[in-house]
Amino acid sequence: MTRVPGDKSISHRSLILGAIADGETRIERLLESDDVMATAGAMRALGAHIRKEDDTWLVSGMGNGSLLEPNESLDFGNAGTGSRLTMGLVAPYDFPVNFVGDASLSSRPMGRILDPLRETGMQVNAAEGDRLPLTVHGAPLPVPITYRVPVASAQIKSAVLLAGLNIAGKTTVIEPVMTRDHTEKMLAGFGADIAIATDDDGTRHITVTGQVDLNAQNITVPGDPSSASFAVVAGLITPGSDITIKDVLLNPTRTGLFETLVEMGADLSIENRHQSGGEDIGDVRVRSSNLTGVTVPAERAPSMIDEYPVLAVAASFAKGETHMLGLDELRVKECDRLAVTARGLEANGVDCTEGKDNLLVRGGPVAGGGVVETHLDHRIAMAFLVMGMAAAKPVTADDITMIATSFPRFTDLMSSLGARFS
Ligand code: S3P
Repeated sequence: MTRVPGDKSISHRSLILGAIADGETRIERLLESDDVMATAGAMRALGAHIRKEDDTWLVSGMGNGSLLEPNESLDFGNAGTGSRLTMGLVAPYDFPVNFVGDASLSSRPMGRILDPLRETGMQVNAAEGDRLPLTVHGAPLPVPITYRVPVASAQIKSAVLLAGLNIAGKTTVIEPVMTRDHTEKMLAGFGADIAIATDDDGTRHITVTGQVDLNAQNITVPGDPSSASFAVVAGLITPGSDITIKDVLLNPTRTGLFETLVEMGADLSIENRHQSGGEDIGDVRVRSSNLTGVTVPAERAPSMIDEYPVLAVAASFAKGETHMLGLDELRVKECDRLAVTARGLEANGVDCTEGKDNLLVRGGPVAGGGVVETHLDHRIAMAFLVMGMAAAKPVTADDITMIATSFPRFTDLMSSLGARFS
C-alpha cells in the first residue's frame, strides 16, 4: 500500500480560496511542491497569512474583495495553473500586479486567460504574444461578463469565475466541453453563490454572483490521480507487480487514463470507494498486465489531459497500435508535449507517428537506452523514467529537477516500488 502526494489542482485552489475567505482555512495533505508553494507565495504577497502547524496548512483569509496590492512581482516559476488562476483572482482589483515565471512558463500563451479578463476592463502590459513577464491592472469598476470558453480548459473557466467573485453582478462561463470541475465544487463548498445549468447537448453554464462573502473551510486534499498514473503504469508494465495506491481522487473529469488502461486490458480495480469533501476517492490497485493497443477518442482528452506522456509509455509496451486523438492542447503545456513525447519514444526505439493533433504508437518490446530531452517538463521526465523500469536498457532523462514542481519524492516513492535510479 502506498500513497501519492495531494492533488495539485485542489491544492492551488485551496490556497487561493482560503486567501479570500473569511476566517481560517485548514488544509491537510496539501501538495508541498514548487508549483503550489509559488501559489502560497503569491497569496502571501496579496496579504493572506499562511503558515504550517504540524502537518496542517492554515490560511487566514483576507475576505472577498480585500486583497492588497503586492509590493513585489509574483514569481510563479513553472506553474501554469497558479499563475493563470491568480490572474483571474486579481483581475477586478484596481492596482497593478506583475507576473513572472521560468523559461517554460514565459513561453506559454496567456492570451487565452487575458482576453476574457480584458472584457472586464482589466488592462494588460505583456511581452510579445501575451506572454510573461506581464502586468495586469484591474478596472476601478469592473464589469461582469458572459464568456464561452473557446478551448477545453479548466484554467480559463476558473480564471473567469475567480474574477467574477469580486465583480458586482453575475459572471457566467459557458463550457461546451466539460473540464475538471474542482473550482465549481470548491466555490460551492466555500459558500459562494454559484449555479450550474446543463443543456441537453452537455454544454454547461456556470454563473457566480459577485461580492458574496466566502467562509473558511477544512479541506483534506485527496491523492493526485495524475501523480498516481506513474505508479499505475509502472505496475502494469513491470512483471510481477501488485500495487495499491491509497486515497486517490476519482473525480470523473480526471479518470480518463484509468478508463483507457482498463480498455487496454489492464488489471486495474478500485477498492474502498468513498466520498470526502464532495469528491469521489478510492484506492487504485494494479497488477502487471498484458496490454493491447486501443484508439483513445478525442472526447476523452480533457479527462486525461496531463496523462498522455505516461499513456504513450504504456502504449509502447502494448500489443498493436494505440492511437490518441484530439491532442491539440498538448502543444501548449509545460512544453510541446506531443512533439517531446514522440521524440522521447523514438530515442528509446519505439515506433510512433506524430500527427498535427494525434499520436500513433506501435507497441512491442521496448529497447530503451535513450536520453530523453525533458524541456523543463516534469511529466515528460517522470513518464520516461517509468519507461526505464521495463525497457531492455535503462532510460535517461536529461534533467529531473522539474519533478519537484508536482511530485516531490517521486524517486523515493518509485524506489520503494522497486525502481532503481542512478
Ligand atoms: C489544470 C487544468 C489543465 C491541466 C493542468 C491543471 C487545473 O490545464 O493541464 O495541469 O488545475 O485547472 P488546462 O485547463 O489549460 O487544460
